[in-house]
Amino acid sequence: MIIESHDFVLAKMTASVTASTIYLCTVFIVLFNVYVDSQDTDAQLCQMCEGTVRQDSPVWDFCLTKGHIRGRCCFENNNTSNVDTIIGLDLANCSISHVEHLYNSSTAFIIDLSNNPISNLSNFIFQGFSHLSQLFLPSKLECPGGNASWEKVEMKNNAKICEGQKDICNQTVQIPWDCPENSFCSPYGPGFFECSCLHNFHGYKCMRQGEFPIFKVLGILTGSTVVVSTLLWFTQRRKVKNT
Ligand SMILES: *[C@@H]1O[C@H](CO)[C@@H](O)[C@H](O)[C@H]1NC(C)=O
Ligand SMILES: *[C@@H]1O[C@H](CO)[C@@H](O)[C@H](O)[C@H]1NC(C)=O
Ligand SMILES: *[C@@H]1O[C@H](CO)[C@@H](O)[C@H](O)[C@H]1NC(C)=O
Ligand SMILES: *[C@@H]1O[C@H](CO)[C@@H](O)[C@H](O)[C@H]1NC(C)=O
Ligand SMILES: *[C@@H]1O[C@H](CO)[C@@H](O)[C@H](O)[C@H]1NC(C)=O
Ligand SMILES: *[C@@H]1O[C@H](CO)[C@@H](O)[C@H](O)[C@H]1NC(C)=O
Ligand SMILES: *[C@@H]1O[C@H](CO)[C@@H](O)[C@H](O)[C@H]1NC(C)=O
Repeated sequence: MIIESHDFVLAKMTASVTASTIYLCTVFIVLFNVYVDSQDTDAQLCQMCEGTVRQDSPVWDFCLTKGHIRGRCCFENNNTSNVDTIIGLDLANCSISHVEHLYNSSTAFIIDLSNNPISNLSNFIFQGFSHLSQLFLPSKLECPGGNASWEKVEMKNNAKICEGQKDICNQTVQIPWDCPENSFCSPYGPGFFECSCLHNFHGYKCMRQGEFPIFKVLGILTGSTVVVSTLLWFTQRRKVKNT
């Protein structure tokens, strides 16, 4: 009788241990994929072209003081955070003919695409690139957002240089759309802006008042994990005591 119940408990314990293992494995696999994905996007961009940032190029000069070079990218020097932020990108003279997106480089201050057979470039590639302050393009191309989006546009060494991104939210000329009430305008790349809701407002056109429910969602997720773990621990402990 006792042996039977012991076996039964063991079987149940094995089952719940298996369940927890599967759960943990799933979490691990998901996290690992996210990690690999982000590594891939960086690799795709920084190894898009042979070699490293070209010596004595504008990106090289910029990176000397502010970052470190890996492949064709310049990463921010930051030892307090293990997130690698791209602050410079040198894809000049890489025989690139088509650029669809620039992956994770929206944090870049300087990007060099000069000396490439690129015939056209969509403005949307630079959407979100709000730090970008120096952009080198093949001479035939226009600066993204047009000349009006930059402080200075010039030609040098067969490259078009777009310098000093203008803050579209702070122009004397009114932008054709105004941000709705309860929101403010912030720059979002050359020629782009975004309207962010003021603190305590959210939803479509920022018309809803109150905190965004992200904290609630996170709370529920964390809460259910804790509840499940506690339940597992409790049932298993109780079974162990019973035997
Ligand atoms: C790169 O972008 C992906 C999503 O596109 C993001 O999950 C990842 O954190 C980014 N990596 C870096 C280093 O910014
Ligand atoms: C980290 O940064 C601080 C200052 O920003 C510097 O003094 C320190 O040497 C750095 N540590 C490493 C390991 O690079
Ligand atoms: C380092 O990274 C942290 C977190 O991402 C950020 O808050 C901080 O400003 C960065 N430091 C520098 C010097 O950029
Ligand atoms: C472009 O790269 C090739 C080798 O890939 C090199 O021979 C040439 O000098 C480079 N041109 C410029 C302008 O840097
Ligand atoms: C670039 O031009 C080609 C044709 O010349 C067109 O098919 C393509 O959609 C254009 N790409 C962009 C990003 O505008
Ligand atoms: C922008 O400025 C450059 C250099 O000053 C000039 O060559 C180009 O024609 C201008 N583009 C437009 C659309 O005005
Ligand atoms: C807006 O522009 C004015 C003059 O052009 C400048 O003095 C001010 O600092 C700018 N404000 C912001 C937030 O960029």
